[in-house]
Amino acid sequence: MTSQKTILRALAGETLPTPPIWMMRQAGRYLPEYRATRAEAGDFLKLCYNPDLAAEVTLQPIRRYGFDAAILFADILLVPQALGADLWFVTGEGPRLSTITTQAELDKLVPADAIHDHLSPVYETVKILSKELPSETTLIGFAGAPWTVATYMVAGRGTPDQGPAHALKAENRAVFDSLMDRITEATIHYMSKQIEAGAEVVKIFDSWAGSLQGADFMDYSIKPMARITAALKDKHPNVPVIAFPRGAGERYTGAHAAIGADCIAVDDGVSAEWAAETLQTGGCVQGNLKSSHMVTGGDELVSETRRIVQAFSKGPHIFNLGHGITPDADPENVQLMIDTVRNG
Ligand code: CP3
Repeated sequence: MTSQKTILRALAGETLPTPPIWMMRQAGRYLPEYRATRAEAGDFLKLCYNPDLAAEVTLQPIRRYGFDAAILFADILLVPQALGADLWFVTGEGPRLSTITTQAELDKLVPADAIHDHLSPVYETVKILSKELPSETTLIGFAGAPWTVATYMVAGRGTPDQGPAHALKAENRAVFDSLMDRITEATIHYMSKQIEAGAEVVKIFDSWAGSLQGADFMDYSIKPMARITAALKDKHPNVPVIAFPRGAGERYTGAHAAIGADCIAVDDGVSAEWAAETLQTGGCVQGNLKSSHMVTGGDELVSETRRIVQAFSKGPHIFNLGHGITPDADPENVQLMIDTVRNG
């Protein structure tokens, strides 16, 4: 049976005359209506845990632009918090967490299947969205990949080179591997619940995959994402999985098969032409306009958007940015990108 939803058709391997489109971080600070709802919630985490308001900000970019998919409003760092880490956000700087670097700290975390009470507001958000979204819009659930989540849990913050996580991996591999294991298991539980609540597609974000060198790339990015994908497919064989090993470069090659994912999201570090030729034979590819075009706009936005649509036109493609839209983006440039994708 062919679904009418364009995102699901592309994920099933169909080449469509116009690629479906959504945008990473499409609910966010570049939108005045997001900033208003966030102010009403009090802060970012309160917004994540308020199902009515989280559903509202998920719907805002759908109302404004009619994207083909909505992505659940939440954050990858809710999983560490559900596992027992402290989490807070410093305005203008980003996330802070209590750190996990020893066996004793790891022992204090809750078991991987004991996260659901904490995360139940997120499942509630998914339920509200599956009722409220327009019938043609696909609902995407998500989680961080184990490596990316581990980089924040070990360092207690975002880091330019993921140095603390690389150091723990080198100095205490047993603790690092147990932490990876705990996150992997928790992520399987979390994404399964999102699917049971109504998520139609799930995406795994490995935002820091690019810093894994040599065998580590396979062991700590690809394999954990493959384990999560296999476990989800076991329970929910019809729910497509999008994997995003950001910064993989030439190592994107063969990623569909290695992960078992229906779609590989690519960043703008690889050309659309290369990604089309190398990756689209394996399945759907998502990407990959540079997010800075949402700030600068103009003719370059239009010509780059056309080039990417053209490059991917012979296979299954979901149009997206190479990474999340930034707070300084102009909402009118988003409209220009959508019009260019849909009208040529
Ligand atoms: O619209 C959407 O894409 C859905 C919601 C979503 C958010 N974060 C909301 C958010 C999603 C899918 C994420 C994923 C996420 N979160 C990732 C992976 C994707 C990527 O960008 O690489 C990562 C690494 C995080 C962790 C995180 N959350 C950081 C480092 C920060 C601070 C940086 C920043 O942009 O402020 C956040 C905060 C965050 N997550 C915001 C939003 C809308 C901004 C918070 C605010 O309103 O102040």
